[in-house]
Amino acid sequence: YDSVRGQQSHAATRAVDEDRPWTGQESLAEDDPEMWDLLLKEKDRQCRGLELIASENFCSRAALEAQGSCLNNKYSEGYPGRRYYGGAEVVDQIELLCQKRALDSFDLDPALWGVNVQPYSGSPANFAVYTAVLKPHDRIMGLDLPDGGHLTHGYMSDVKRISATSIYFESMPYKLNTATGLIDYDQMEMTAKLFRPKLIIAGTSAYARLIDYARIKKAYMLADMAHISGLVATKAIPSPFEHSDLVTTTTHKSLRGVRAGLIFYRKGVRSVDKKGKEIMYDLEDKVNFSVFPSLQGGPHNHAIAGVAVALRQTQSPMFKEYISQVLMNAKSMAAALLSKGYTLVSDGTDNHLVLVDLRPKGIDGARAERVLELVSITANKNTCPGDKSALTPGGLRLGAPALTSRQFKEADFVQVVELMDEGFKIALDVKKKTGKPSARGEADNHVAWYLARIWSSAFCLFFLFVKLCRC
Ligand SMILES: *Cc1c(COP(=O)(O)O)cnc(C)c1O
Ligand SMILES: *[C@@H]1O[C@H](CO)[C@@H](O)[C@H](O)[C@H]1NC(C)=O
Repeated sequence: YDSVRGQQSHAATRAVDEDRPWTGQESLAEDDPEMWDLLLKEKDRQCRGLELIASENFCSRAALEAQGSCLNNKYSEGYPGRRYYGGAEVVDQIELLCQKRALDSFDLDPALWGVNVQPYSGSPANFAVYTAVLKPHDRIMGLDLPDGGHLTHGYMSDVKRISATSIYFESMPYKLNTATGLIDYDQMEMTAKLFRPKLIIAGTSAYARLIDYARIKKAYMLADMAHISGLVATKAIPSPFEHSDLVTTTTHKSLRGVRAGLIFYRKGVRSVDKKGKEIMYDLEDKVNFSVFPSLQGGPHNHAIAGVAVALRQTQSPMFKEYISQVLMNAKSMAAALLSKGYTLVSDGTDNHLVLVDLRPKGIDGARAERVLELVSITANKNTCPGDKSALTPGGLRLGAPALTSRQFKEADFVQVVELMDEGFKIALDVKKKTGKPSARGEADNHVAWYLARIWSSAFCLFFLFVKLCRC
């Protein structure tokens, strides 16, 4: 970080040198001090804060280096060996290497699985799967967004079709059991019988328990392992591959790579008919055609290279250790919250995240999120089963992957819970003093005088400096 600051002052002197012609070789600091300054501010924010957003992580310098490279410049529509542009011999090798590493990372037999590494991110990957296997208005089922599913799984509100998935296809949600906070598989089966979806999606963005993939298997099953792919790669939790026809993931969440998406699809024999004839999977052509040319143009070769670098890292003992620490840290965070009398949706966690239900404490997730943000703890508000409002939901989603990347261990997460507990108490106090839950400005004023208290706590300073200055 000091060296970054050093570069900045160096840049400040260079930037005033206006006589030199522009070459395109200037550093960002020289070329665009305004943007450089913002970048430093963001770097500072990321270094100073406690990052608990469950979908975020700190990507390695090596993977970011590949992403911020000359690979950005290359157009290569098509696939390795079949491109619409010349000069693709190197990016062909990069894409093939990324494919090989993606299959290796999840221990997949190339005879049974293929992978498309071109999706720009998780949402485009999902839409590419829908475009590959569905016709307009075909039916899909996914976990409802307020219950921990993802927007792209077909979200629509009572009055509006929100996700394009619900605009172009007919979607029917399945839900959590409100008493247990677990996926209601019985209700899902009953609905599926009536609705007869062509595709069922198993995957979550805010669910702390494991998924029973075997029970979800239907016509086509898509597992969207965006949040948990790092955990799946090290086999720390059950793999969706055994029961799925298609698997999508993001690469920047627990997998800790650069921002992109992957689609895995089955190859080989799908089933055997009554006459003993083998019916083959035809997903490879469909997925290929859907990603390009149906939905995307030129692949992001720089992102593909960054993903390849990160995928290689996931195969190392270091990453296995990292993921097992993520799980231990999430459990430590859950235990510390329970011991302080907080309620957790589903009463605990089997993965990398915890969902706190703050309603029994008399506060909402929006207010808690704001107070924590003011003391540089970032988390996000989340609906809990039975919530009425998505704007002031009762829950807060807390993830362990990012801080685990910064070497936090179980005891550190107990300390993080201490700090959050103080924040929640402030949120409750603010609520008592200001009344309305949406009085954001007023709440901020009230919070301001509390901040001194939080930040002057000797332990807090010790904790932050010793632990966080290692960035
Ligand atoms: C994050 C996420 C996505 C979408 O990823 P983006 O890269 O944000 O488009 C899709 N599905 C699930 C389950 C996710 O958690
Ligand atoms: C589909 O794309 C993959 C990934 O680039 C490639 O390996 C495969 O040959 C393609 N298959 C077809 C049938 O085009």
